[in-house]
Amino acid sequence: MTNANESIQNAPAPHSSTDQVAHENSTVVGNISDFAEGVMKVVHVGHRRVLLVRTAKGLYALDNACPHQGYGLARGDLAGDTVTCIWHNWKFAVDTGECVVGEENVRTHSVLIHEDGTVRVTLAAEDRQAAIPRLRESVDSGLRKGYLGQVARDVVRLLQANDNPGELVWRAIEWGAPRAEYGWGHSVALATDCITLLDRYEGVDRALPIVQAFSGIVAENRPEMPSVLPEPTVMTADARLRFRSAIEREAVEEAQSLLRGALLSGVEPAIIREWLTSVASDHFLNYGHGAIYTQKAFELLDHLGWDRADTVLGHLVPAIGYGTREDRLPYMRPFMKAMQEHSLETIMQTIDREDPASWDSSSLSEALLNGGKRADVFGESFAALQSGSGVDRLLDVAVATVSERMMRFVATDDFDLSDDFGWLDLTHGITFANAARWQWEHHRGPDALRQALFAVWLSHWTGRHEWHTKIGERDTVQLDASIATASRVLTHESLLDRSGSFIVTAHGVKTAVAAEREALRTGSPVVLEATARFLRTPKMERFVAANVQQSVDFLTGRTQRE
Ligand code: FES
Repeated sequence: MTNANESIQNAPAPHSSTDQVAHENSTVVGNISDFAEGVMKVVHVGHRRVLLVRTAKGLYALDNACPHQGYGLARGDLAGDTVTCIWHNWKFAVDTGECVVGEENVRTHSVLIHEDGTVRVTLAAEDRQAAIPRLRESVDSGLRKGYLGQVARDVVRLLQANDNPGELVWRAIEWGAPRAEYGWGHSVALATDCITLLDRYEGVDRALPIVQAFSGIVAENRPEMPSVLPEPTVMTADARLRFRSAIEREAVEEAQSLLRGALLSGVEPAIIREWLTSVASDHFLNYGHGAIYTQKAFELLDHLGWDRADTVLGHLVPAIGYGTREDRLPYMRPFMKAMQEHSLETIMQTIDREDPASWDSSSLSEALLNGGKRADVFGESFAALQSGSGVDRLLDVAVATVSERMMRFVATDDFDLSDDFGWLDLTHGITFANAARWQWEHHRGPDALRQALFAVWLSHWTGRHEWHTKIGERDTVQLDASIATASRVLTHESLLDRSGSFIVTAHGVKTAVAAEREALRTGSPVVLEATARFLRTPKMERFVAANVQQSVDFLTGRTQRE
């Protein structure tokens, strides 16, 4: 009697490349008498490990590697015609490979028993190109069910078949964007950054940003049914004004309809971008999210094509329309009052005389970081513009201010459940400033100026925690020598989701992306050091505990909120 391994070792050496292929795909693995009923035995066919299983019905061959995490099925339990993988209990029908408990079928191969009892196994043909439609369907199914493992495996297979990585991410966005209850948020923003980072990876390594993008879509809470965009309104000359008015009134469907009408009539992308950036700067929306999401939406369309604008922008509108207008809250009133005493159009004329190279930033830096009352932030910014700072230098100071705060933030304060300030509040100072800069680059004017002034205000406001606690010791962080290299290290670190929580990961990625742009602009690594400190410091995922604490405080009247 010959066992399977001996039969492989004794097989004749191939004489030609055709023989080689035949040998690798089809091998005599023993004699039927080697396989008693109930036996499970691993054999090699070429480089593949195949599990032979003998049941009362016959002899079957299937991949030994469990499709879940690759552990050997040979160690599993056979009951009738079902094999159970003992590692996580997935179960497979041995004759068809169908997964009866778990997420994914195991591949089966053909078994031929000759008259003399020899058993030949021939591997199932693997046509990666032909498998693409089935794998895409499987990715979609994993997305719907939230099975990230399934998504990850199929994404790797699709990359092996040379499927388009950006289009893979689009499958997640197209499914997720309409299911965001009040317009899409961090999930699509994260997916956009993941697409931005794709070209830093090659081959199957691109699965990391792709699956990270899927994870955000899976993680955000979504209704079963997608929201349907309203019918387009016929485009008129005053459509932009009507759109702006609709957003102001939170008439979201009206705004969506007007936007769709403009898209349908072929209005230029740059004009539509101005529509969106202006409404996103009419207020300081959601702590800057309105501006950040708008920036991401247009970056996404730059990557994937304007033909997706209806989905991307249509489902962005609710996030802007329903965004909290923070500028109406008491804590922003002194700043708003000071700003409203000036005409932004008039300030624009000052900016046209800017001389940023000779501008001394020390007074504004000091006011934002170490002194300066809320009421004075606008005055300091105005004075800077008057003395030739220009908007970009103002934003440089805002980024530098937040970076310094991140370097001295007492990280253990993130664990204070009674204080709703933490790392994420700080990182917004960087991502929002970068979004304001993006708007200024594209649509220099009063709206973009307002957004930039909001960013300066926010950089000062990130000090609110240390104002009532204490200023920590400035930390030090080691980075790679060049800004370009250090940035690549940090963007990769951000995708490794060390925090474990989607929302922190999303902030990590978008902060790393924004920090790279800011550092490349100024040549200063401080914003990268701050980002590294944020990424590398343990964070408390306090969303459940903090919500409980705040609910108890509120409902028992322990604390008063203003
Ligand atoms: S590896 Fe088989 S079930 Fe997990």
